[in-house]
Amino acid sequence: MISPETIQQITSRIDIIDVVGEFVKLKRRGANYLGLCPFHNEKTPSFTVSPAKEIYKCFGCGKSGNTISFLMEVEKYSYVDSLKWLANRYGIEVEETFSSPEVRQQQLTADSLFAINNFAQKFFSEQLTETDHGHVGLSYLKDVRGYRDETIKKFQLGYNPEARDTFAKAAVAHQFNPELLVKSGLVVNRNEELVDNYRGRIIFPIHNNTGKIIGFGARIIAKNDRTPKYINTPENEIYIKSKILYGSYFARQTIDKNDECLLVEGYTDVISLHQNGIENVVASGGTSLTTDQLRIIKKYTNNLTIIYDGDAAGIKAALRGLDMALEESLNVKLVLIPDKEDPDSYVNKVGPTAFQKFIAENKKDFILFQLEVMLKEAGNDVAKKNDVVNQIAETLSKINKAEDFTKQQDYIRQCSSILKIDESGLTTLVNKYKRDKISADEKKLPFEEANHHIPQQQDTDVAYDLFHQDEAQERSVLRVLLEYGLKQWDEQHTNAEYIWHELENFTFDNPELEKLYNLYYHLYQQGEKPTSKTLLYIEDQTIRDLVISITMFPHELSHRWDDVMENMHILDRDTSKQDVFASVNYFKLRKIKKMFDQNQKDLEAATDLKEQLKLIEIHKQLKQVEIELTKQIGSVIIK
Ligand code: UTP
Ligand code: MN
Repeated sequence: MISPETIQQITSRIDIIDVVGEFVKLKRRGANYLGLCPFHNEKTPSFTVSPAKEIYKCFGCGKSGNTISFLMEVEKYSYVDSLKWLANRYGIEVEETFSSPEVRQQQLTADSLFAINNFAQKFFSEQLTETDHGHVGLSYLKDVRGYRDETIKKFQLGYNPEARDTFAKAAVAHQFNPELLVKSGLVVNRNEELVDNYRGRIIFPIHNNTGKIIGFGARIIAKNDRTPKYINTPENEIYIKSKILYGSYFARQTIDKNDECLLVEGYTDVISLHQNGIENVVASGGTSLTTDQLRIIKKYTNNLTIIYDGDAAGIKAALRGLDMALEESLNVKLVLIPDKEDPDSYVNKVGPTAFQKFIAENKKDFILFQLEVMLKEAGNDVAKKNDVVNQIAETLSKINKAEDFTKQQDYIRQCSSILKIDESGLTTLVNKYKRDKISADEKKLPFEEANHHIPQQQDTDVAYDLFHQDEAQERSVLRVLLEYGLKQWDEQHTNAEYIWHELENFTFDNPELEKLYNLYYHLYQQGEKPTSKTLLYIEDQTIRDLVISITMFPHELSHRWDDVMENMHILDRDTSKQDVFASVNYFKLRKIKKMFDQNQKDLEAATDLKEQLKLIEIHKQLKQVEIELTKQIGSVIIK
């Protein structure tokens, strides 16, 4: 964890215009800045940044947040990574709070491995382009693979010379620890001697999402059956195979923009497609996809297009990733490259335009593709056809996220039509597999209940409205608390103190709002002077989201008037007291009305006379408070 002092240092330095300006071209517009939204495609700018509030909001797609959430969204950083990025930018040293010795050791090892890889990449690149023994590598890359200089540079390709220990010697001379060098996979220990592991190979550095090198793929130049075509970095603290997607660092922005990720098998496929201007492409490294890899893709898009060789192995490899992709609710399409070509050779053969046209025209829905393949195999064999129906039902049952319910129904319709079977029959079968999976997973949710997890649109809308009526007043109190809490209510008290005192005997219905309310006073009592801005740097994501939605909402409709109002100095008029007063009293009024209703119900149910009289008394009192409140609100709020 990053220490609170460091976070404080970072947040006090943050300039949202400066940070957002790094990614979006911003123009000043009154008090705010305006630009083209980085989160959706638009031609007229609706992405607004408020330097005063330190927040942004897109009035096109609705995305909003502060500097940290901007970095998390645009760079897909974690909360901690965003802070580190900012610290780095402002030259602030990051102080981490105590972590266990093991974690600490692991971090040190990871840092050293990054340093070694960084050194190695520079070394191998230099060998490739600036030495005589690199010539064989360079001519392979340029003449055989057709890579241009800028492509070689972009992907930081290199060459490890044939000689025993060119790299090992340089690394040892550079004071790198021998054990860590072995761990990095770049050298091996042969009879107490360090020798290069990737001798005579082309080096493909593998980057993580932030562009740091986590490992390498090393390819032989000449065909050789005695040794594998590629040697890859062994698993270590930073090279975790199941989490690696080659090329993701170079592809992420285009994937985001195109809302589609192309998946190929190999390093060279990625590089060739990039060189041909197709940049939303990553490689799985020839093995079947892991859940972690799918989750990396899902950060950027829900649309995955798998482009594999048309041979049987390619198809099999592709199909292996299917069920998992469905569980991650990705829309998966498949394209098979014809004639024994792979994406690399095919794009070089037909050129980028024809390649993209081919992809667009031959994209097959993955599930329907699987069905076709299986049906073809089954032929007229009835038993086999039965298996096909079972298999497809099982596949469809993997689409189990509630929000994908319509998608599942669509598939059931299409598949039953292809199979020429009854739609409701397939539905039953799919549900059976769902039930099996659920009881296998948890052994506690019976089928009927599982089905109840599928939300009924109308019900949720009604529920939402019900929920919201009550919430509005609670949110309003929090809004004035966040906005005006620290201002004076009267000579002795701040607005925060006034609100606290007034609402002492009331409770919040929404637990999240209550959490924020309590957090505010907890910080306030510690002398922390909380505001909507400082709360935006709390690590708890739900709190941050809540703060944003609370402070943003009232301005949403009026933002187009901001400039006009500002010019007329209308915004300067301090309405904070009225606002606080009204919010507090509407809140009370709402709560009183609820108590009133409850009391009414109790009265109807009461049979005992004494009880009834007591309830009638409460009824009168509540009525009195209600009248009083309404009168007060009316006299102060001049609408
Ligand atoms: P390919 O054999 O298709 O390699 O394996 P490629 O990258 O297209 O290489 P070229 O075109 O023959 O030069 C696909 C991927 O499988 C992994 C690599 O990640 C490779 O990019 N692979 C393959 C290995 O890890 N080891 C191997 O021995 C072979
Ligand atoms: Mn290839």
